[in-house]
Amino acid sequence: MAEQAATGSDETGGGLFQPFSMRGLELENRIVMSPMSRHRASPKGLHHPLATLYYRQRASAGLIISEGTQVSETAKGFPGIPGIYRPEHVETWREPIAAVHDEGGRIFIQLWHCGRIAHGSHLPEGQMPVAPSAIRAEDGMVMLDDLSFAKPDMPRALETREVEALVEDHVHAARMALAAGADGVEIHAANGYGAAQFLCDRTNQRTDRYGGSPVKRCRFVIETAEAIASAIGADKVGIRLSPVSTYQDAWDSDPTALYGVLLPALSMLDLGYVHMVEGSPGTSRDPSGFDFAGARRLFDGPWIVNNLYDRALAEAALARGDADLVAFGLPFLANPDLVRRFREHRDLNPVEKETLYGGGEKGYTDYPFFAG
Ligand SMILES: Cc1cc2nc3c(=O)[nH]c(=O)nc-3n(C[C@H](O)[C@H](O)[C@H](O)COP(=O)(O)O)c2cc1C
Repeated sequence: MAEQAATGSDETGGGLFQPFSMRGLELENRIVMSPMSRHRASPKGLHHPLATLYYRQRASAGLIISEGTQVSETAKGFPGIPGIYRPEHVETWREPIAAVHDEGGRIFIQLWHCGRIAHGSHLPEGQMPVAPSAIRAEDGMVMLDDLSFAKPDMPRALETREVEALVEDHVHAARMALAAGADGVEIHAANGYGAAQFLCDRTNQRTDRYGGSPVKRCRFVIETAEAIASAIGADKVGIRLSPVSTYQDAWDSDPTALYGVLLPALSMLDLGYVHMVEGSPGTSRDPSGFDFAGARRLFDGPWIVNNLYDRALAEAALARGDADLVAFGLPFLANPDLVRRFREHRDLNPVEKETLYGGGEKGYTDYPFFAG
């Protein structure tokens, strides 16, 4: 694909402020809002009434990737997560998406299945969490309805036909996201959740065609990406990956081999983008020596990077050609006008940790815009 230069002068504000054509979707700048769960939705997966304002406030991002959104009833591992598998979920997403579009922004919905990072109390009566293999996340954590943290329950291994059904759940959710008006979907295959559990040898010890060699462990993710791409168009499908994350007790013993299989396969599908979490999310930038620049060469398409970036690091990554776009999580959460603040070199609002999850307006829609 043709390179789109991301260099900028002082006048234009730097590479972050250059427009980008993402497989034909025109983005106003290279600043992406990273997916962030805010745990304010109703138990039925309907948005908090302030979600529309929350997303509208942040619509100056080149692209918003929504909070993780449940693809099915069994996807749940946390309270207050919106859904995208029932007609009422389509309705609940319409307004936030329309608000972003009104402001000239773009939004992809992140499709999320928690897999083994789940708790019986969130699931339909009598059900256990489902995962590639019956291996408990000893070092993982879920959130209970009172927003306290707990250890995930023991999962049961999915039958092969259930894995096929899980692919279909993702396709259904993707269709619903498009019906709600989203510009696309992001498959959450990062940070130790369901799809990532298929990739990692620590969490996938299956002996059917979805487990074993790297090729087999990649099969669920590739089939899901391919099936969604056929349903809604490959350009509308992004994927989030975290080759060296150890979050939620999931990692692979040989990420170079694993991603050496996965990225070329995703490249063949002409997906909308790859979104790389470089390290464990929010904890460490890549300490492992994994060759992210080399990984990028395996995927011929738009490349988003994330994890503990600030403006200077982001500009440097764009200038080196190591990324097309940079995603910001906490800085965007606390600064609805992050794009302007970066452009004008303004100070950033600090993050209030106590109001990240649950609650209402406080720490959600009341972070101040820069005055002046
Ligand atoms: C409150 C909060 C919620 C998050 N929820 C999600 C999520 O739903 N899906 C996801 O892929 N990552 C999620 N993350 C990870 C962020 O997308 C991002 O990878 C992480 O914050 C590191 O980026 P940053 O240093 O710019 O904040 C969340 C992070 C935070 C702080």
